[in-house]
Amino acid sequence: MNIIAFAGSNSSTSINKQLVTHAAQQFQEDQVTILDLNDFELPIYSIDLEQASGIPENAQRFSDLIKASDLLLISLAEHNGAYSAVFKNLFDWLSRVDGTSGFHGKSIFVMATSPGARGGASVLEMAVSRFPRNDGEIVGTFSLPSFSQNFDSEKGITNTDLNNELIDKLKSIKIN
Ligand SMILES: Cc1cc2nc3c(=O)[nH]c(=O)nc-3n(C[C@H](O)[C@H](O)[C@H](O)COP(=O)(O)O)c2cc1C
Repeated sequence: MNIIAFAGSNSSTSINKQLVTHAAQQFQEDQVTILDLNDFELPIYSIDLEQASGIPENAQRFSDLIKASDLLLISLAEHNGAYSAVFKNLFDWLSRVDGTSGFHGKSIFVMATSPGARGGASVLEMAVSRFPRNDGEIVGTFSLPSFSQNFDSEKGITNTDLNNELIDKLKSIKIN
């Protein structure tokens, strides 16, 4: 199995990257590639730019990695109740790649965490309703509320119930 994992964030200390890395550790190490959006710098989407220069290499490269995968693990940062700008920009470019409206029909386990008690519930809801319209199949969701109370950088999720919930959900993923 080829799993791509990434956070919808460009923070060097991203809590969503920490969460998605923790989730990725539930799979065999050689099956997972963890990506960082900072390695895929992109211009702000513009129809003029697309018409003049096509899809930027980094967007095409990201799209190709999705296409070659069996499962995506994504943890989304929530900014003002929505996707972070860096993720929305990547998403817009991915939706313009030939042959897909975004996710190449791949299975997606989507997560979110935030310092607050809602755990990124708004961005998670947004992704769950939107990704299927962009050629992605949601195979599970997980929200980690109050990140600093429930996560330790060495131990992972410290709240046993929440950790068990995540592990059970990851184990039950069915890939088409
Ligand atoms: C511009 C901005 C808007 C934010 N809006 C929200 C929000 O709507 N809901 C929320 O729970 N946290 C919000 N936060 C806090 C983020 O959840 C927090 O910065 C978190 O660390 C982002 O995830 P990351 O570390 O993976 O980038 C916001 C942060 C910023 C900088």
